[in-house]
Amino acid sequence: MFTTENTSYIKEKGKVSFSAPSNIALVKYWGKHGVQLPQNASLSFTLSNCKTITTISYVRKEKKSNDFDFQFLFEGNPKPSFEPKINTFFERIYEYCPFLKDFSFVIDSQNTFPHSSGIASSASGMAAMAQCLVTIEKELGSELNEEQLIQKASFLARLGSGSACRSLEGPVTVWGAHENIGGSSDQYAVKVPFEIHEVFKNYQDTVLLVDKGEKQVSSTVGHNLMHGHPFAKQRFQQANDNLTELAEVMQSGDMDRFIHIVESEALTLHSMMMTSSPYFILMKPETLEVINHIWQFRRESNIPVCFTLDAGANVHVLYPESFKEDVLSFINNQLVRYCQNKQYICDVIGTGVQSL
Ligand code: DP6
Repeated sequence: MFTTENTSYIKEKGKVSFSAPSNIALVKYWGKHGVQLPQNASLSFTLSNCKTITTISYVRKEKKSNDFDFQFLFEGNPKPSFEPKINTFFERIYEYCPFLKDFSFVIDSQNTFPHSSGIASSASGMAAMAQCLVTIEKELGSELNEEQLIQKASFLARLGSGSACRSLEGPVTVWGAHENIGGSSDQYAVKVPFEIHEVFKNYQDTVLLVDKGEKQVSSTVGHNLMHGHPFAKQRFQQANDNLTELAEVMQSGDMDRFIHIVESEALTLHSMMMTSSPYFILMKPETLEVINHIWQFRRESNIPVCFTLDAGANVHVLYPESFKEDVLSFINNQLVRYCQNKQYICDVIGTGVQSL
């Protein structure tokens, strides 16, 4: 699937530019097998403001060589420390993008969110790069239609970083074959095949930057610890069951069930870390303070605000747009004190990659 063998190109050079957002999983991907294949299906909100903007210029090499020729610029400056990662990515996707050895590339990337905010840029970065690459392939003469292009971009992004495959489209995507999600696949993510309830339109995600440091344990290491994990089998089944229920809830708008599934998924993800061998904890004391405050605020105000976590200490506060004012004043009054330098990022669900 997705392999192409074309070596006659209709263009010698060009330039493409795309932005791709980050995403936040509600049903978590934690555990993989084979070449970046998920052990369970996951579902995420695609975000809008936290994104990577990537421009790739390409020019045909005078002579085909057997290595990749590219330069990586981060915010306009050469960043050679990133190049091994990209080289590995290119090696992995070469069989699907054979033009990679026929052209020289300059890849220029920047993020809209602050450096070292603890927000992973791999999802948005890989999604933006993958979308640029399939667009180049199209410019060079490939015959993929729009739907195949976006699927291939998601497929390539997945090979860079699993969760990245969910960032191409929005507002809600699923990655991983799941019996109740038509068209779903382990190879790439798809948009959910149903209308989401109005309450989720413009759903807000305010990311509280509790800990902006480098993660002590990378996601890749964490995923690997699910091999031989004592609760792995139940966990993968539970995630698939939660996805079935969440898909219903996202159509009915039942906020109590929504909150229950989303928070349970976040805490289960961290429970898997705490019960791995070796075990580890990515939450900080401030993470727990924030969670307790959210629970108390929800009880007292009846506002359907909830949290989720990714593989770190930061807290994503999720709520309907109609409660934005109340929740932001709650955050400012009670939660910013737990954020490093009082920083948080306001985001909202969005639609995926955009051509620039
Ligand atoms: C906790 O996609 O970063 O955010 O495939 O090794 O690159 P790799 O892992 P990555 O893992 C993300 C894990 C998560 C949950 C999620 O986004 O589903």
